[in-house]
Parts: sequence; C-alpha cells; structure tokens
Amino acid sequence: MNYYIGLDLGTSSCKGVIIDREGNVYGSHSVKYPVSYPALNHSEQDPADWLKAAVEILAALGEGRADDIRGVSIAGQMHGLVMLDGNDNVIRPAILWNDGRSEKETAYLNGIKETFEETGNVAFAGFTAPKILWVKENEPENFRKCKKICLPKDYLAYMLTGVFSTDYSDAAGMLLLDVKNKKWSEKMCGICGISADMLPKLYESWEPTGKLKPRFGLKNAVMCAGAGDNAASAVGTGTLNEGDCSISLGTSGTVFLPCDKFIDGAGRTLHNFCHANGKYHLMGCILSAASCDDWWTKRILQTGYDRFDLGRAAGTGVYFLPYLTGERCPHNDVHARGAFVGLHADTSREDMCLAVYEGVAYALRDCIEAGGVSVKSAVLCGGGAKSVLWQNTVANVLGADIYVTEKEQFGAAMLALVGCGEYRDLNGAASHTVRKKLAARCDPDIAVKYGKGFETYKKLYPALKSVYSDMI
Ligand code: XUL
Repeated sequence: MNYYIGLDLGTSSCKGVIIDREGNVYGSHSVKYPVSYPALNHSEQDPADWLKAAVEILAALGEGRADDIRGVSIAGQMHGLVMLDGNDNVIRPAILWNDGRSEKETAYLNGIKETFEETGNVAFAGFTAPKILWVKENEPENFRKCKKICLPKDYLAYMLTGVFSTDYSDAAGMLLLDVKNKKWSEKMCGICGISADMLPKLYESWEPTGKLKPRFGLKNAVMCAGAGDNAASAVGTGTLNEGDCSISLGTSGTVFLPCDKFIDGAGRTLHNFCHANGKYHLMGCILSAASCDDWWTKRILQTGYDRFDLGRAAGTGVYFLPYLTGERCPHNDVHARGAFVGLHADTSREDMCLAVYEGVAYALRDCIEAGGVSVKSAVLCGGGAKSVLWQNTVANVLGADIYVTEKEQFGAAMLALVGCGEYRDLNGAASHTVRKKLAARCDPDIAVKYGKGFETYKKLYPALKSVYSDMI
C-alpha cells in the first residue's frame, strides 16, 4: 500500500493527515504553537516551532508504515517572511500574514507604478515585500545578514529536504513574482533591496522537489512543492475550474475563485494569484474569520457556550465588525478594529453571538462585491465550516448555496498524489477523492433581510474610519 502525507502549516497549529490513493484517511495528528504579538499590529512566530511540530507529526503518521509513505506535501500560511543567514540560521522571528507593521512601506509600494505592473497586484501590509522593506529600514543589521528569503512552508520543506524551493501559488503572495509570466520580478527584488537569487526555485505545486533527509525516517518519500494554504484548500474542496468557488473560515476568511487565465487588472481589489493546478485564481481575504468566534466564545464569554446551536435565524439589529487584526480586503487598513454596533438594553448573548457570525459573512460579501464577482454556490472549508449556523448564515448573507466536503480535506496530500503519479492531474485526483454535499440552501426571505442588513453594515466602516486612526 502507498501512503501520502499532507501537512497544513497553519497559524495556530500544524495538522497532518495520511491518505491512500482513493483518499481514505488513515490518521491525522496536530500540534499547536503560539503566535506572539510583541507590539501593536506585530504578529510573529518562531520557525523552530513549525519544524518541531512537523517532525512530531511525520513520526506519528509514519508509525508502522514509514517505508510505504511515497509522498509528502505542505500547505502553508501565506505571505510570512522568513530570513536566513549564510548558515541557514533563522535571523529573526517570522513576520506573519496578519502583521500590520509595514503600513508606511505598503503605501510606498502602492505609490510606485512598478508594483502593479510587475506583479499584477497591489500591496497589502501582510504581503512579504513590504515586510522586507520594513526590516531593511528598521533592522539594518538583520537585513545585512540575510542571504535567503522564504515563506513558512518553504522554510519547513528546506529543513526537511535541504532543497530550497517554493511553488507559484504561495510565491504569488510575496509581491516579488511576475504572476502572469510565473517568474521572479528582478525589478521588485531591486525595489526591496534583495536579489532574485536569494529566493527559492519555483515549481508547480504538485512537482517533486527532492527527498526527505534520512533522519526523518521516511526513506521512500519525495517532497512535492506544496501550495499556499488557500490554494491547497481549494484543491481539497475540488475548487479547480472557472465558475467554482470555495470559502474558507479559518483564522482568516477567504473567497477563492479559480480562473483559466490571468485576468489583467483584477488585482486592484482582489488578490490575483497563481492556483495550485497550474492556472490562476482571484481571492478576497479578511484577516479574522473563525478567529472572531474563538475570540468571542473562548476569550470573552469563557463559558464553553455551544456555538453550534443558537436556534436563531437572522438579523437582530446588532452588527459586528470583524476587524480584530486590522483588515485586508477591501479596506487595506491596519488601523481598523473590531466593534459591536447597535447594542440595546435588551440585547442578549445570543444576539451578540449571531452578530459575530453575521459580521464575518458580511465582510466576505464586502470582498465579493468590491471585486465585482458573483458567487452562486460555494464549498465552505476551514474550522468554521463545521458550524451549521455559520453554514446557513453564509448562505443567506451571500445569497449562495453552501456545500461542504463529506470528509476532512487533504489538499496538500492530493498534491503528493499527483506528484507521485497516482493521477495525471488535480482534476483526476479530485474526482476520485473529493465528495461534496449540500449543507445550506439560501433562504430567499432571509436573504432579503440580510440584503438590507448589508447596506447598514457597509456604512459602518466609513463611519468609524477616522475614529480608528485617532484611537489611543
Ligand atoms: C491569504 C492569507 C491568509 C493566510 C492564512 O492571503 O493571508 O489566508 O494564508 O494562513
């Protein structure tokens, strides 16, 4: 029997799953690690924690079948900046995708024409290039020491294999890639003060890049290049063709729309990136999605409240803005903050819980409308997708039917299936291994109510914008 492992290097944990060619799951294992917030809008992680977690997961999943594991692939949190010195030591903690320190550098990159011309995208503070500029400006000593720059999953793969590689889907989020032509942009590298030879070699997501080092015990396994976590989730939900859509409710929330071709100009409002299937995709990203629910139920309510059974349908007059770590799409504002608006003496805990779910769904609709795209149905994935209430709320706020996969998703492992020749391409792998079922049909009456609610929601950010930047 041949087995394949997919690792998902997330923000709160690394999860691993082991499957066979039919997509039967033989085990999963996850290891948590912390995020540190050393200053306002700073968000960092220690890459050593990722490696420790991955090594534990590979050992756990390999137990009793290590020699039968043929392929491994990694889905990674995107945009993170990992800097290595000449001896491949990590120079400083990784600066994560939801870090907002590079506001000034982001504004600079959006003020020069090369950024959009070269990459097809505008800059957001979480992207890698503005963070490189921030280090150059604020930590010149670290910048001088830097010999290699990579993304989180590529650091992990480098440590596991010794091969310095990345894939197009994740590389697109660095703002250093000429996305349309799939090559590093020398101009963008120059603007950031680095050279393209400090960056990893580019591969398609399914392509094998090398073997795991013997000490990890998987002697017959190759590493495949992997993908950004959103592209890998899209693979895992079978979101591969134009007209498909997947929506992820993880720490971040994303709307992911595959495209057959690169669409010139689309990257002004949505991210215009490469997909893991060799094509392209558009994506809207909000920085806090399921993390809002975690914050609200665990940190604030602290009651072990059953978040899946509110028994409520729609709209209570309370609004929640989910900008707990600033906002990416569509506002591009690191100063944005979360808010409850419309509280009344009669407002209940249930009203506020529902408002949190609705606020995240409204924020996703805000991305969809800003991007001028339409979504009639979508596959929901990520931790929040398990909530029946959230499935229904997203369906009714977006006016779309919502599907989920029958089993947990394993997009990264599917890349290894293709990389190791089990299937000719990802469509082949998906049609054998991914099963979807309808989870929530949009209720037209509730959708009308949410349509009105969305008009109110849209007025809240502009009304608060000036307050956010003045807040102490
Ligand atoms: C996408 C993004 C997030 C991270 C989360 O642009 O920043 O979805 O990939 O891991």
